[in-house]
Amino acid sequence: MVNDKSSSSRRMGGNKKTAEVTRRGFFGKTIAAIMGLIGFGLGIPLFGYAVLPTLKKREEPWSEVGPLELIELNRPKELEVVRSSSSGWMKSNTVRSFWAYKKPDGEVVAFSPICTHLGCGYRWSDADQQFLCPCHNSVFDLEGKVLAGPAPRPLDTLPTKIEGDRLFILYQEFKAGLPKKEAI
Ligand code: FES
Repeated sequence: MVNDKSSSSRRMGGNKKTAEVTRRGFFGKTIAAIMGLIGFGLGIPLFGYAVLPTLKKREEPWSEVGPLELIELNRPKELEVVRSSSSGWMKSNTVRSFWAYKKPDGEVVAFSPICTHLGCGYRWSDADQQFLCPCHNSVFDLEGKVLAGPAPRPLDTLPTKIEGDRLFILYQEFKAGLPKKEAI
């Protein structure tokens, strides 16, 4: 009987310990779950703030060129524009040039300033009424079509838009040396 009592008290002690262990385990798991929830709650905005911008594609916003009167009728002019771009956290402003003229119907035609052969800068010749590339003598007409030389495709046009009396351009660069226009 004595043995029974002591064994039952041992059993009770064992049960207490088990209950304590179970309680501890329960609190431990609850705290871990709460910490997990807090971490998750903090992690989402942090992810949005720190990581998402780096995953965003580089933006190519429209750049304002200036008043439309800068553009001449059927006479290409080299103009400059400040191009803003961002890649992740990096924001940059760079000055880029392009050629533009106005057609009789008011449409503005703009060309990338980079020769489609190997990427040299070309110029408009008033005397010849042609674009001439000095590197390998490619020649383009007012519409950008290749008239002579090794250029594999016409001059690369750039999208333009007019808002009020202001001209905007979507500056882009394209790979040289290919028969088809391919953005970089
Ligand atoms: S780069 Fe213009 S013709 Fe070669």
